[in-house]
Amino acid sequence: MTPRANDAVTNSDLRPTTPTAEPTTMSTNTPRSRPIVLGVTGASGLIYAVRAVKYLLEADEAIELVASRSAAMVWNAENQITMPTDPTKQAEFWRSQAGVPTAGRLRCHPAGDVGANIASGSFRTRGMIVMPCSMSTVGKLANGLSSDLLERAADVQLKEGRSLVVVPRETPFSLVHLRNLTALAEAGARIVPAIPAWYHQPQTIEDLVDFVVARVFDQLDLDCIPLKRWKEDVEQN
Ligand SMILES: Cc1cc2nc3c(=O)[nH]c(=O)nc-3n(C[C@H](O)[C@H](O)[C@H](O)COP(=O)(O)O)c2cc1C
Repeated sequence: MTPRANDAVTNSDLRPTTPTAEPTTMSTNTPRSRPIVLGVTGASGLIYAVRAVKYLLEADEAIELVASRSAAMVWNAENQITMPTDPTKQAEFWRSQAGVPTAGRLRCHPAGDVGANIASGSFRTRGMIVMPCSMSTVGKLANGLSSDLLERAADVQLKEGRSLVVVPRETPFSLVHLRNLTALAEAGARIVPAIPAWYHQPQTIEDLVDFVVARVFDQLDLDCIPLKRWKEDVEQN
């Protein structure tokens, strides 16, 4: 029975009337089980998002993913692959690209669904990563536009005082880009440019990408990438 306005709510009202075999929503009861929101835009470097999905799912984390419409175009340009628009098929697509068929929890949302869970501050998350982040999205976030779900979800993180990590991918930056990035940093976002390092002696493209993704995860205190950190061995001895 669904409680109506002015009705007294009894314990029996709160019990489910029909048992369900599968949970219909992700558990968000504890801080540890709250999802990470991953926004993927139409900047170059989708491999950054793929590696993030891989490591988060392997660590049994929950991801709420929203890809912008332009991200699909970049998938075509970079990998000659069509990203499905259907949320279920898109989740299978990301899992397949990441090579993680079953672990963790992944839910995809259409960019136009501004009524999705992550559009509300009452839906608790552990923060959001926008990676890679285009200059178009940087500009919109810096000005609070919220014109699609990705922008709205990022705006929600800022208004709720949660972590927002923006990973811009452009070169060179114009003064407009720099001013927008500054405005985001002033609003509380962490700006982690997609700039790898070489002191950890990368051997593959994945090594370079993983360095950036690990530094992004550091901002959310996520430690699920085996990163060789500067002088860590020395300090442990
Ligand atoms: C193949 C390709 C690569 C692109 N790379 C970038 C990029 O690295 N950085 C950027 O800011 N925009 C890039 N763009 C342009 C954005 O996709 C475009 O500005 C788009 O409107 C961004 O929309 P979104 O932020 O909603 O995803 C690229 C576009 C294409 C087709």
